[in-house]
Amino acid sequence: MPLYPLFNMGFSSMSRSLLNDSFFDSFSSSILGLDEAESLPPSCYTDQEFFDFEKQTLFYKEWLCVGRESWVKEPGDYFCSQHVGEPLVVVRTKEGEVAAMSAVCQHRGMLVAEGCGNIRALICPYHHWIYALDGKLVGAPEMGRTCNFNKEKHGLPRLRVEIWQGFIFVNFDLDALPLAPRLTALDAVLANFDLANLDGPRPGDPMRFHWNWKVMFENNNDGYHANRLHRGPLHDPVPSSKASFPELPDDTAGYYRFNGSTHPDASFNPTHKALLPVFPKLTEAERHRVLFANVPPSLSLVMNTDMVLYLIMQAEDADHHSMVMGSLVVPEAMENPMFDRLMKINQDSVQEIVAQDLHVDELVQQGLKSKYAPRGRYSWQEGAQRQFNVWLVDRYRRGWESVRKHTLD
Ligand code: FES
Ligand SMILES: [Fe+2]
Repeated sequence: MPLYPLFNMGFSSMSRSLLNDSFFDSFSSSILGLDEAESLPPSCYTDQEFFDFEKQTLFYKEWLCVGRESWVKEPGDYFCSQHVGEPLVVVRTKEGEVAAMSAVCQHRGMLVAEGCGNIRALICPYHHWIYALDGKLVGAPEMGRTCNFNKEKHGLPRLRVEIWQGFIFVNFDLDALPLAPRLTALDAVLANFDLANLDGPRPGDPMRFHWNWKVMFENNNDGYHANRLHRGPLHDPVPSSKASFPELPDDTAGYYRFNGSTHPDASFNPTHKALLPVFPKLTEAERHRVLFANVPPSLSLVMNTDMVLYLIMQAEDADHHSMVMGSLVVPEAMENPMFDRLMKINQDSVQEIVAQDLHVDELVQQGLKSKYAPRGRYSWQEGAQRQFNVWLVDRYRRGWESVRKHTLD
């Protein structure tokens, strides 16, 4: 089936479309058992038409992480974010709820907010339309002579909001199923980290990268490369041979892997040990491993016993995405006068490891564009890649079914 009917849905036009039944049928081999599975077709990572399909199928339907609830503690606190190029603003309203809305002024498209801070209302700098903290338009100067102008119809478009483990998720789809009931498998393994009550320095601006969001997502949770690409004193205490991939419910919206460590409270720094207070509720077993957890398509967590690294990915197009990177620790840790110094030791080490990852990611994207790009086979240490494939293929299939149905209607 050709894609041409999709023109009506905003997909890009091409003389020969990549998207057809046999292309989607070919995804079956990516969700076989790990010993038989192969990676998704390379064009899933490089083709803009496929990204446009993902935009409709994933990003406009799934829950997307935008930040931490602690970033909007007080009424009027706000911060800006974006996903798939949509500027968003997240606000704590006067009533105390977390609201998320488009940051696009409904007058002529200026953005009503930048950065973060505290405000009494969202005032568009261009012509001073004023939006309440819940997005309602409450002021529009000199619009009295404009026929049939009803302020109630020009509020900022709202998104759904859900808080999970202290992270704020938004959804463009106002009818989306709630997220938390499909994350119970993750909740069970995260419980003793008490994520909702952890704190950490506010991350800086997102970094922008020239490769597909899935290349980054897969790299964040790749047990196979751990003591190969990262071989050396910083990463050796968390070797690939100790990776394990628990069974997950079919409908899970998130997945995880454990990676055992050579000693308790291992950490990615020159001392090999946790420098900050260990999360107090962790069991002995939990202190002997690192937990890598993922809520696709936007959140990855790397959970050591004293610090959680969170990575919020913001897809942009087939070749670009941005990422916010932050850390969470027990709140008391930040009161230690040595906190900044200890964090710097951790962060310097993490940066060294991340630099190795980024180099690979950039070159993987180049490789995936090659006519020799493979549908590669997996090692047993790459179970998380298959977990991600399962999450993706389920949604890709549903998306394609809906495109076909739309086409036939
Ligand atoms: S564009 Fe915002 S008030 Fe005119
Ligand atoms: Fe890595």
